[in-house]
Amino acid sequence: MSWVNEVTEDQVELAVELVKRGLDERKLRSKLGPYWKELVEVAKARLRAKDKFSRQDLWMDLEGLRYATHEIVARYRAKRLANFGVKSIADVSCGIGIQLIFYAMKVERAYGIDIDPVKIEFARRNAEKYRVSNIEFINGDSLSEETIRRIDAEVVFSDPARPPEAPERTLEGLLPSPLRVYEAYRSKVNAFIFDLPPQMRREKVPWSGEFEYIDLFGAINRLTFYFEPLARAERSAVTLPKGARLESNPDLENIVEWTEKPGQYLYEIPQSIDYADLINELFHAVEGEMKMLLREKRRVLATGDDEIRSDYFKRVYSVVAVLPFHPVRINDFLRREGFGRATLRISLPDREYWRFRRKVEAGLNGERRAFVFQLGRKAIIAEEL
Ligand SMILES: C[S@@+](CC[C@H](N)C(=O)[O-])C[C@H]1O[C@@H](n2cnc3c(N)ncnc32)[C@H](O)[C@@H]1O
Repeated sequence: MSWVNEVTEDQVELAVELVKRGLDERKLRSKLGPYWKELVEVAKARLRAKDKFSRQDLWMDLEGLRYATHEIVARYRAKRLANFGVKSIADVSCGIGIQLIFYAMKVERAYGIDIDPVKIEFARRNAEKYRVSNIEFINGDSLSEETIRRIDAEVVFSDPARPPEAPERTLEGLLPSPLRVYEAYRSKVNAFIFDLPPQMRREKVPWSGEFEYIDLFGAINRLTFYFEPLARAERSAVTLPKGARLESNPDLENIVEWTEKPGQYLYEIPQSIDYADLINELFHAVEGEMKMLLREKRRVLATGDDEIRSDYFKRVYSVVAVLPFHPVRINDFLRREGFGRATLRISLPDREYWRFRRKVEAGLNGERRAFVFQLGRKAIIAEEL
């Protein structure tokens, strides 16, 4: 039994109200009782979760919230699983249960396992909130004989914890390690699905299957590895919430060309497409002439003179000017042209960034909003279409 079995929904609701009112520690303690700290943390997690889930009344602590799958991603992956006709699944590191619950909505039978007694109780309560009742919850080590014996499922899913201290992303560093999960369950199940850190090098994964990179609202969010029977391509990228999907195709001729000169438009390519090495596939998929212009860790841009529209792009911009990359020059231009706001899309060290930003933004006034990109010694000023 853990503290979570001793507290009620009413107490968390009260904690939410008290946190909103900003009460001090002494008052919180007296109104909430012995588990006031834990209740306050659940309340804070609820307040912080805001847009991540469709429900505002879920059970989680701050760590559970940070690791939890975004509902849009959870729903997408569950749908994908259902398309393969999977009827049963075991999530062997379910945390507060978000991915598990969405899988369970699409299969007949599900198992949720977590080593942490608090997390598993959160997951159980969350399943109730979503009115999902086909999950068997197990509090235990998913690598133990006892747990393995209890599981009867076609597919094992794991979204392992990532200890922050692990410097390089490897399978061994994840908890539980997918290598060990595979060894433990390989004789029992047909396929595995592993959530992996998106930065992990694909060569580190010793199995064949599909690497699916998911973008959420324009930033890389998840890498999911599907074992062969559930794979549809070697690599793929999906941009959510739109749901545009791109797959690797080794037979395509390489048509990617680079340029140093921005055209009339910039097309911002989602990180998932870059991480999945699908730039060439993207060039084949969109209609119109474009060339690659910039590839940085946080932004990838193509350019051209056609107003290309595609669900694969994060954003499309029209180029307003190309100037020397100097804050005062940029500021002069923006003021003259009636730009009231400037969004910097540049990678500078923190301190420099703020100094640069202050100079660029000084005295801006007007309706227009500029995006400022750096291309070597030049600044590209653009407006979103
Ligand atoms: C990243 S979280 C899972 C988040 C979850 N997918 C969600 O949507 O909320 C990873 C979980 O793995 C659990 N875990 C780590 N080692 C485990 C093991 N050997 N057996 C079972 N669970 C384990 C941790 O307690 C943690 O809750």
